[in-house]
Amino acid sequence: MSDTKRIAVIGAGFMGSMHASIFARLKGCELVAIVDPNTTLATSVAETLGGCKVYASHEELLASEQLDLISICTPDNLHLAPALAAAEKGVHLFIEKPIASSLDEAKQIVEACRKAGTKLGIGYLLRFDPRYAHAKELIATGRTGAPIHLYARRNSARTEGPKRYAGKLPLALHVTVHDVDLALWMLEGQKPVSVYAQETDRLLGPIGTQDTIAAIVRFSDGTIVNFESAWSLPSGARHMIDARLEFIGTDASFEIQCGDSGLYFADNERSQEIDTQHWPTVGGKVEGDLKRELEGVIDWLDGGNAPVASGEEAIASLELTLAMIRSAETGDVIRLS
Ligand SMILES: NC(=O)c1ccc[n+]([C@@H]2O[C@H](COP(=O)([O-])OP(=O)(O)OC[C@H]3O[C@@H](n4cnc5c(N)ncnc54)[C@H](O)[C@@H]3O)[C@@H](O)[C@H]2O)c1
Repeated sequence: MSDTKRIAVIGAGFMGSMHASIFARLKGCELVAIVDPNTTLATSVAETLGGCKVYASHEELLASEQLDLISICTPDNLHLAPALAAAEKGVHLFIEKPIASSLDEAKQIVEACRKAGTKLGIGYLLRFDPRYAHAKELIATGRTGAPIHLYARRNSARTEGPKRYAGKLPLALHVTVHDVDLALWMLEGQKPVSVYAQETDRLLGPIGTQDTIAAIVRFSDGTIVNFESAWSLPSGARHMIDARLEFIGTDASFEIQCGDSGLYFADNERSQEIDTQHWPTVGGKVEGDLKRELEGVIDWLDGGNAPVASGEEAIASLELTLAMIRSAETGDVIRLS
């Protein structure tokens, strides 16, 4: 690998434009290109970053550039083709969560990287939020004793997620999967053994998505985890993302409260919280969890121990989330081996 890491971002939408803007200014990195069939969009992103190459497809990118890392930010069902092509070329990969929209595709990606000997990391950015990272340490260092119960909530307004993802992606695969990754990460060493879930779509069914999903999962040592995700809160809801994680252990408990961003804004048209956690823009630069995550990706690429989710971990979170969806659709308790 060269001293300066040559990086390309595939997909110039919501996440890809932020990945590109962070990689463009990370020390030791060169943002070589942005790829999107919508080359007008990719060009406008490249221009705001002072210019880099633009390609309309990953095939053109890989035929023209020598790269150290590709970040894939295409829609979930379009991660597979660029991932397989990049692995075949020997380029390390960072893919936005979830790794793919099906287990079969996820396994193909992991196998292709294993065969090629390339690194594969998946974008679970909450691992880089200091609150969740510190909470994991409280469990790992024994401060909490053995886990008994974990509760994870992630509720947001109908004006956000459904507007962009309805009809394309189930609520659980977009939202709950973040908390599933956190629970599996925090309860490292345990395996989910059964899941039961229920969902409703009375409000958002007509636009092809769910209002809320609630699930209860039992782990191999008996720990119980409740997940609750909704993107049906009214647009006037107090919190942008009402997220909590509560933990009870044999010796201690903790609570993470992410609902209040700490920056509440109101004028004569709007009343809303502004993101200070995931990807706030300060002085024209994207900061927060996403910036810390992509710095972590560079550390991980160099052999450091940044907690970038592996392909195998991303398969585990996808498997549990898909089981949740299956349970909600059938009403069955799903047993996991
Ligand atoms: N980490 C998070 O919190 C978070 C948040 C939102 C989205 N995501 C994930 O990020 C990924 C992208 O989501 P988004 O919201 O940015 O979507 P988006 O629709 O805003 O952007 C996707 C972009 O990919 C482009 N694209 C489509 N096919 C392509 C192809 N074959 N090659 C290159 N580009 C192609 C589209 O033209 C579009 O510009 C998804 O996997 C999504 O689940 C993660």
